Amino acid sequence: MGSLFDFMLPELKSPMTGATTDALMGFIHIVSFIILAGVTIAMIYFAIKYRRRSEDDETPLITHNNKLEITWSVIPLLLVFVVFGWGYKGWLNLKTVPDNAYEIHVSAYKWGWTFKYENGAQVGNEVHVPAGRPIKLVMQSQDVLHSFFVPDYRIKQDVLPNRYTYVWFQADETGESQVFCTEYCGTSHSNMLAKVIVHTENDFEAWLEEQGTGGGGTPEERGEQLVGLQGCASCHSMDGSDGIGPTWQGLWGKERNFESAASVSADENYIRESILNPSAKIVEGYQNQMVSYEGRLSDDDISDIIAYIKTLEE
Ligand code: CUA
Repeated sequence: MGSLFDFMLPELKSPMTGATTDALMGFIHIVSFIILAGVTIAMIYFAIKYRRRSEDDETPLITHNNKLEITWSVIPLLLVFVVFGWGYKGWLNLKTVPDNAYEIHVSAYKWGWTFKYENGAQVGNEVHVPAGRPIKLVMQSQDVLHSFFVPDYRIKQDVLPNRYTYVWFQADETGESQVFCTEYCGTSHSNMLAKVIVHTENDFEAWLEEQGTGGGGTPEERGEQLVGLQGCASCHSMDGSDGIGPTWQGLWGKERNFESAASVSADENYIRESILNPSAKIVEGYQNQMVSYEGRLSDDDISDIIAYIKTLEE
């Protein structure tokens, strides 16, 4: 089915995220075309067949036809269910990042993109990735709403200030793909472009090596340093022992229960909220004692602290 619609879309370079989108789009187009053709042909046929032939030709009074009306309501309804179910399946796939995904942090700003790697390397407007491996982009904006769009991969995700969003893809072949900002963000929105550059696994490792650590150590190292500077350890232990606040050991990904909020699992957004607005969710069995770090830690600082927390496994 895909090849029939090739002229409408760029070549699909991430089948794992794009195959459903393409198949569903093909299905919707075929169904729409069949209905369009059917309605048009029927309309022309009836217009000719039932045309007025003489002066005393009178239109009979027809009020309704149950069978016909039920048929043309139920069939489209079923089609809508199919489209919804299919689309939902594709959406779940886009929201479920494979466990072995390689993580890269993305920072959007007016008007460009910064990509940050686990070894501390930082590059602007170019994201280098290995082929044949799922890539998870954890994204954040430094100012207004932006949106990360790669037509070749069929992925598009808003990038927000004060909140993390994520998206994933897997490019199977080496090459380049265009990234667009697809949320109007001011004068230079249309120039807010970047490229995904896909290398072989080996070339990618070599490239990453070459980028070095970007100076101040890896995000984990910077995070650990910040934790020391900000005195987090006076309330939170890193080794599982109890303190004024809950321990950070094993915190990452853990299900959290609160005094008066629904449970969440400890992800980037939860930890960020706990740093900036600690009273929003008080962990069961603890008191509301922590002050906000709003204004004391930058977005980068918080990302680095989260990187450090991730290393504190049980
Ligand atoms: Cu950033 Cu549009």
